[in-house]
Amino acid sequence: MNAVLQAPTWPVDRRGRPLRDLRLSVIEACNFRCGYCMPAEQVPDDYGLDSAARLSFDEIETLVRGFARIGVNKLRLTGGEPLLRKRLPELVARLATIPGIDDLALTTNGSLLAIHAAALHAAGLRRLTISLDALDTGLFRTMSGGRGEVSDVLQGIDAAVRAGFQSLKINCVVQRGINEDQVLPLVEHFRGSGHVLRFIEYMDVGTCNGWQRGQVVTSAELRDRIARHWDIQPVGANYRGEVAKRYCFTDGTGELGFVSSVSESFCGDCHRARVSADGRLFTCLFASEGTPLRGKLALGETGFSDHLGALWSRRADRYSELRGERDAVSGRHVEMFLIGG
Ligand code: GTP
Ligand code: 5AD
Ligand code: SF4
Ligand code: SF4
Repeated sequence: MNAVLQAPTWPVDRRGRPLRDLRLSVIEACNFRCGYCMPAEQVPDDYGLDSAARLSFDEIETLVRGFARIGVNKLRLTGGEPLLRKRLPELVARLATIPGIDDLALTTNGSLLAIHAAALHAAGLRRLTISLDALDTGLFRTMSGGRGEVSDVLQGIDAAVRAGFQSLKINCVVQRGINEDQVLPLVEHFRGSGHVLRFIEYMDVGTCNGWQRGQVVTSAELRDRIARHWDIQPVGANYRGEVAKRYCFTDGTGELGFVSSVSESFCGDCHRARVSADGRLFTCLFASEGTPLRGKLALGETGFSDHLGALWSRRADRYSELRGERDAVSGRHVEMFLIGG
């Protein structure tokens, strides 16, 4: 008799959501000090853990294999700034071949990309997202806390294309009165490039940025401004639960994305978990506490994935929805630089 092939049953959380997408921070340190994430006045220059406090490559591999067993098919490496992690291409090569992981991506500030793009591509990385909040040289420098040069990021983008990366995603966080005037120049710059520029609403993440609702420029407002210059129309999502709403230029010159994390919550389809570089699990971007996983890796792939499944099935997070309902939801939130956005 033929063996009956059974579809895997993945755990769902208390709101019926499976876990499909893992965002794994490989390092908490960053060479920028963006005011909305890691303001220089609040985070010392030498901020960072001892390397022994970070998961090793062996531990990361076991961890990802465990996550893949309970349904994760999409893995994004984040930071801090992930390119500061030593021997990153070696890690990428190990993660790229894990069964079940069919989408491996990385989010970077781009400053070191010109140096590392070719090695990352050769290691098997295929998708890159680059943060870029301004094209203006002085403003870019200010927004990176006096640490970054926009020319390095633009050279990083060119190097990534030469290395073989196609259709990069470029993320811009818009803050009222700070970089609103960069929106149209950024659209003009990337229209027709094949890359997808995405605008992200400024969020109340972490504890350092002093967020106020008035500083948010909503996606609807940005779309109105952009539509005065270019004809754009909505297009369907690439996959269920896609965070960015897609729009295309009607003249065929490409695509834009809008992440409306404040004005329109998308918790209902949130299939994401985050793990910090020291191995703590955060089931929401706005969680206050993480659950340490490092000690459980000794259980091995199967035992560890059973443990993860049990943790996931207890999850009930929906912070953005609650923020909408109650306007102000107080409490401490994990820092964005610990879980990479
Ligand atoms: P693709 O895999 O290319 O679709 O990318 P992505 O949109 O999943 O990842 P990316 O890192 O580019 O996400 C864009 C930004 O959206 C993040 O940096 C966060 O600022 C925000 N974001 C992503 N996921 C969530 C989420 O679960 N909740 C909230 N509130 N914001 C999120
Ligand atoms: N609001 C919105 N996006 C943020 N990011 C970091 N802090 C914030 C915030 N307060 C984004 C970065 C980057 C990603 C890792 O997270 O710009 O694109
Ligand atoms: Fe800026 Fe990203 Fe570094 Fe935060 S982690 S300071 S958003 S570059
Ligand atoms: Fe997911 Fe939390 Fe973001 Fe809602 S607020 S979409 S639950 S990470």
